[in-house]
Amino acid sequence: MPKPIGRFDSDSVRASWDVAADAYAQGQASGRDYYRYEFFGPEHITLCGDVDGLTVLDLGCGSGYFAREMALAGASVTAVDISPRMLEHARRIEAETPLGITYLESDAASIGGVVPDGHFDLVTSCMALQDMPDVPGVLREARRTVRDEGRLVVSIVHPCTDTPFREWERDDSGGKRWLCIDRYFERGPVEYPWKGWAYEFRTPSFHATLEDWFDWFLSAGFSLSALKEPRPSKAALVKRPELEDASRVAYYLLLEFTAGPPINEAR
Ligand SMILES: C[S@@+](CC[C@H](N)C(=O)[O-])C[C@H]1O[C@@H](n2cnc3c(N)ncnc32)[C@H](O)[C@@H]1O
Repeated sequence: MPKPIGRFDSDSVRASWDVAADAYAQGQASGRDYYRYEFFGPEHITLCGDVDGLTVLDLGCGSGYFAREMALAGASVTAVDISPRMLEHARRIEAETPLGITYLESDAASIGGVVPDGHFDLVTSCMALQDMPDVPGVLREARRTVRDEGRLVVSIVHPCTDTPFREWERDDSGGKRWLCIDRYFERGPVEYPWKGWAYEFRTPSFHATLEDWFDWFLSAGFSLSALKEPRPSKAALVKRPELEDASRVAYYLLLEFTAGPPINEAR
């Protein structure tokens, strides 16, 4: 269950992810992060389409999972993260298995000095935007750095089910009966506990409504071209029966946009 928090700015976000980084990177390397590997990750990759030969910018790259997927598919990748410790993991993996990825340490809302205008065919962000303190600023940077008619492909937690109150009602044997969600319209920063990883850690996130998200994307100059609510496949459910809850409730939202003029200019 998330908890409301008072402080949510670049410094507090950087500090939290620095603490989380070792367990997060280890969880990815060990396969612990099976929600990612079994369904939302592959669906995000599919939504990006054929990236061979494209220039790709990955915002909030963490230890580099998605940046590597793009590079393995033939893209020339630049990846940005605010957490130095996360980037240490990403760079270590790049040194061990070079894919030509350029990693930059920056707040994604202020990459002006390091990333040129209109340079990228595709800007992407895998499960990171909801963790950023200034999403409108990040989307303005995404629009500035992507070429006209280029694409933005993002995955975020689903704002309709990832609410400030969220708890599974359980039966006597601990099975999940139904998900109770409430306080959808209470926008604001919350903190999530991550349990069952190498150590327990907490990371901050911002709950916004679906309407907020679309205001942000459209005002930055993006128009929607695809929306997906991924579910685990039958094969994934056989491999990982624990994913059964994700076949009943949409946990994630995947969105593809095309870059055009900011909506205020277009009108
Ligand atoms: C849930 S992790 C996702 C990492 C990676 N995209 C993945 O799929 O594994 C969220 C990441 O966003 C980064 N982040 C949060 N706020 C940021 C910001 N303002 N600018 C850049 N990165 C940020 C965190 O440091 C963290 O690495």
